[in-house]
Amino acid sequence: MQTNLTEFKQTEQTHQNVKLEEPIVINNEPKSIISNKFMYGQYFTKKAIVKRVIELLQKYKNYPININILEPSFGTGNFISVLKEKGFNRITGCEIDSSLTNNPTDFFDFPLDKKYDLIIGNPPFTKYNVVESYFYPNNYITSLISRESYLTKKLLKKEKEKIENIFILKSLQHLKDNNSSLAFVLPISFFIKNRNKEIKEKIFEKFSTIIIYQNDKVWFDYPIPCCFAIFTNTEEYKNKIIVTYENSEVHESIFDISKINEELIPEVVFNKKNGKTVQLKGNELENYISKKRVKCEKSFKENNVSAKNILERIKIPENSEIADYKLAVVRVGNSSVGKCGLINLNKDILNDMFYVFDFKESFVNNKEIKEKICEEINKNQDYFKQITCRVGSKSIKKEDVFNFKVEI
Ligand SMILES: C[S@@+](CC[C@H](N)C(=O)[O-])C[C@H]1O[C@@H](n2cnc3c(N)ncnc32)[C@H](O)[C@@H]1O
Repeated sequence: MQTNLTEFKQTEQTHQNVKLEEPIVINNEPKSIISNKFMYGQYFTKKAIVKRVIELLQKYKNYPININILEPSFGTGNFISVLKEKGFNRITGCEIDSSLTNNPTDFFDFPLDKKYDLIIGNPPFTKYNVVESYFYPNNYITSLISRESYLTKKLLKKEKEKIENIFILKSLQHLKDNNSSLAFVLPISFFIKNRNKEIKEKIFEKFSTIIIYQNDKVWFDYPIPCCFAIFTNTEEYKNKIIVTYENSEVHESIFDISKINEELIPEVVFNKKNGKTVQLKGNELENYISKKRVKCEKSFKENNVSAKNILERIKIPENSEIADYKLAVVRVGNSSVGKCGLINLNKDILNDMFYVFDFKESFVNNKEIKEKICEEINKNQDYFKQITCRVGSKSIKKEDVFNFKVEI
């Protein structure tokens, strides 16, 4: 059994004693725990979740128990324990943190001649505001494992990149053959439309079946929106993406692999298909509002308009210049996203929570249409809330506003 690298110190039981919270509230914790936790993205996957995702993995392909498996960042070892319970006996692992293993190994220093039938786990995720949580190519200039062997030319020139993406790229180089699979817990944002295109392209070179799984459970001690992605090759699902959302039942949608850069968030796909997302009728808003940028002053100090009072501005005051009124839609905030009003940029100052749109020329002087659009958006605020379930804090794209439909 190749478990010498996988000896982990803590069990799930003991790691639960370590509080996993945001840095602000853990000032009293020992410094080393705080920095390792955030620097190394230490969110350990609950054992019940590991069991479920391994069951899913085995549903789509048969993995004999004597295959070579790598867990590249095993943490408290939950993936390894479940795999062992299932009879797999050739498991190798890496873990960088010496408080979790007697044999700390940085996955980026792990020799590339080691090849596996299955690479599985939950790599660290970069937290956008924690500089230490990124991967810095320059940190590996002197590594015995050349950065060029797993980084793209573009990435070699970048100062930093999200670490989970580099875990994927390096893992691709550890695959034994065409029959090998890669299965990782990933942040749900990985599958937002047009994100991580370069990484998806590399995945594409090796795999033609992708399974993306999300459920309604919390996967770690801290709620981070994530999914389990299986990259593999199967005859039955060649060139297919299977998007699975599980609540009390399992809901599966199948897409052609050419849709890889579309939004493939299982919960959103499920909501759209099952009518939980408000079904809109009519014409898209892009027929009424302009795509030209509207210049406006924004200030968090001097603003008189915020998400709190925007609903007081749904009518254009009598005797005012109709053309001066633009559409302001709240773009962020769990309870406010999608609220809107009509604001006068000669008088009003907004904070940074809004997208501001002008109306198309044929509607700039049309009070009735402007007010009707505003009313329809506010009536359907739930629509914006539902299509934003992809990330922790709700935020919409301009495109979401242009695609909103109104019956006028
Ligand atoms: C999100 S946790 C997941 C741990 C485990 N796979 C699980 O599912 O519970 C990520 C783990 O990666 C480890 N890690 C971070 N950077 C690493 C690196 N460069 N090489 C190996 N392990 C690393 C962290 O210490 C942490 O234990």
